[in-house]
Order: sequence, then structure tokens, then C-alpha cells
Amino acid sequence: MTQQNIYYGQSTEITRKVFIAHIKKAISSQNYQNSKYKLENLHKLSSENEKLLEKGTDQGTLFHKAIYSTFDEPNHFSSDFWLSYKNLCLEIVDILKKNTGFHEEWAIQRYPTFRFHFPNNVSVFEFHRDSNYSHPIGEINCFYAINECINSSALQVEKNLGFEDYFPLNLTAGQYALLNTSIYKHGDILNQTNKTRVSMDFRFIPKGLLKNQKSSLTKNIEFNTNSYFIGEKDMKIFKK
Ligand SMILES: [Fe+2]
Repeated sequence: MTQQNIYYGQSTEITRKVFIAHIKKAISSQNYQNSKYKLENLHKLSSENEKLLEKGTDQGTLFHKAIYSTFDEPNHFSSDFWLSYKNLCLEIVDILKKNTGFHEEWAIQRYPTFRFHFPNNVSVFEFHRDSNYSHPIGEINCFYAINECINSSALQVEKNLGFEDYFPLNLTAGQYALLNTSIYKHGDILNQTNKTRVSMDFRFIPKGLLKNQKSSLTKNIEFNTNSYFIGEKDMKIFKK
């Protein structure tokens, strides 16, 4: 019997507020000038959410584009977002070292992936295992709830390996879960709440396990510390 083993943690409210401010600033800069809305009402800003997100569009909404474009800005690595992300990741690395007994250097996803789970929609187009997309088996995923994830708006996670017996990864705002999405299947069901769930996910793995990794099947991404990941030591000092 092999069951999903989840570690639950909580970020500071300051960290969560930095993430929210970054998202709202990025979105506001893309023609949504009014920033007096809550992230949970993001679906009211765009009609994009009315169409079921699918392969090719689940990471390609205007909101995704707005946020991902900030990662290319010259000052990104001195931004509050980067500093908060870096500190959270390094805190998580310490937890992972303690929990796994792997005290060597870890690799960390350089830029987090954002999910917008609009009402009556999904944020990821299919149930899958990340290893289906060539992610390394040893990866540990951090699923970070920027706002509440509850039942149908939560990620559905396989409990017993291979059983496809899903449970909702319910999280309060600012809470995160460390889990294995590389081999345990997961995905979304239609969000039946009236709120958009906004979350980030980002992955960790001992750096030594990245040797001879293949590229991602969905994007031309190399799973190494020059591309998708950044080494823990580099992250600590990294400024562009
Ligand atoms: Fe996944």
C-alpha cells in the first residue's frame, strides 16, 4: 500500500500579501486599471473564464501572460515578489532536508506556475501525473494557496497510488502543501464555488537527481539548474 504523504505549512501573511500585490499589479498593467477587486472575483474581469480551459489555454489566459511577463523584467530579481518567493522556497528546502534526510544541495523551480481556477471551469486541463510530462520522479511539489482552496475549487489528489481515489487538497489562504504530484495523479473538477481560486505551484528535488533529465513534453524546458530549476546556493545569492 502506497499512500500520498502530505506536509502542510503556512506562510506569513506578509508573504501572501506580497504575492497578491504582485499579481494585481501585473494584471492592472494589462488594461485592467481598476485594482479595487479581490482575487477571488478575478473571473468578473474577463470573459475568458466562460470558455472551458483546455490544453494550450490553461496556462495562457491574459492573467497568466500578465504575470509571467513580469519574470522577464530587468528588475525582477530585486522585486519584493522574488525576495518573498526566494525566502519561502529556502524555508521549504530546510523542511524538506529535515523530512527526507537529504542534506545535500536542492534544486528549486525558478519561477512558480500560476493557476486560476475560475467558477465552472478547471485550471489544469486533464488529470495527470507530472511524470507524464517528463518531470523527474523524485520531484516534490509545493501547492501554495493564495486564496482559499475548498472542495471543488481545490486540487483533487490521488490518495492511494494507482487507485484514482481523489480527495480535495483543502487549504486556507496562505497555507501550502508539500506533496508528490510526479507519480500521484491529480487534476481539477469544475469549480462549483462562486470564487476564483488562485494558487501557485513550484517544485523541489535534490540537485544530484537531475542528471540526465529529459526535456518537458509540453514546453521546450530542460529540467536542470540552468533552466526550469535553480540551485539552492544560486538562489540564495541570485540577482540578475
Ligand atoms: Fe501536475
